[in-house]
Amino acid sequence: MLGSLLLAGSRLPLVRRAVSGVPLTRKVVDRFVAGEDVQQAVTAIRRLTDTGLAVTIDHLGEETRDSDAAAATADAYVVLLDALSELGLGSRAEVSVKLSAVGQALGADGDKIALENARRICEAAAAVGSNVTFDMEDHTTVDSTLSILRAVRGDFPSTGVALQSYLFRTEEDCRDLSHEGSRVRLVKGAYAEPASVAHQDKGEVDKAYVRCLRILMAGQGYPMVATHDDRLISITETLADRFGRSRGGYEYQMLYGIRTDKQQALAGAGHTMRVYIPYGDDWYGYFMRRLAERPANIAFFLRALIGG
Ligand code: FDA
Repeated sequence: MLGSLLLAGSRLPLVRRAVSGVPLTRKVVDRFVAGEDVQQAVTAIRRLTDTGLAVTIDHLGEETRDSDAAAATADAYVVLLDALSELGLGSRAEVSVKLSAVGQALGADGDKIALENARRICEAAAAVGSNVTFDMEDHTTVDSTLSILRAVRGDFPSTGVALQSYLFRTEEDCRDLSHEGSRVRLVKGAYAEPASVAHQDKGEVDKAYVRCLRILMAGQGYPMVATHDDRLISITETLADRFGRSRGGYEYQMLYGIRTDKQQALAGAGHTMRVYIPYGDDWYGYFMRRLAERPANIAFFLRALIGG
């Protein structure tokens, strides 16, 4: 309930101004966001990759409303990929892109602009031996995201996409994307979605996750199991045994600052464990979704505000 209110409030400019304007908010944001610029992101990347973790980097931003800003976001990814190439991490350091940040939300020409910008990012990634995965935003963007994915995969076949188990349609999307060479990041879903398109009950979302996971693990693609949920991690291990997938045939992914002990344990056990690292100054939407996921985060936020 509180989570839904936070997600709804996160889209109101008044709430945005109120939360962003509190100086101490930054202290809490730092738990989930690696910094505001590429240099700070690189410091976090080094710290995590030195301990055996893989990473995927997100230049924060979403729902860009003008084409110059969309192009500037693509430029930021090109700069980021340049910095990644200097680290020599290859595909251990990938990037994650929200298509609404590169133009998808720009009306009639949105898809075309997002496709051009996404192509530019994929080109820069391919040049340094890295990969791109498209994030999935609210349900109205799924068809457009999958069609842009199909368009870029022609030239950049390693491009991946996130699918959200809370959407009714996702089992079918998993079937379509379980072919050889396909890379799917399976998540539960983080947006406030109506009952007409998405499971509302957490138990149903978890069950749907297992059904989608089974399709992906049984298929020919590369599943990226993005969850902090112990039960789903242990089901993944059972399915890997059942379908004869070796450790290199799938990977785990978690968010920066969440369950870091578990991240280290999975990497220590020989799994590819990839941490999603967001950086940049447009942290508001990302931060509010992390608060909404877990009441304890709201308590942490309030304690920091009161305690200083
Ligand atoms: P669940 O929410 O049930 O959490 C399981 C346990 O994990 C909790 O009990 C707690 O211990 C811990 N935990 C989870 N969230 C936490 C938090 N915020 N703070 C502290 N502890 C927490 N969503 C989306 O809609 N589109 C996308 O593109 C992506 N991309 C993405 C990439 C990656 C790498 C990850 C890991 C997640 C996403 N998500 C996403 C977010 C996803 O949809 C989901 O909201 C979160 O991962 C939380 O769901 P869990 O699967 O972790 O389970």
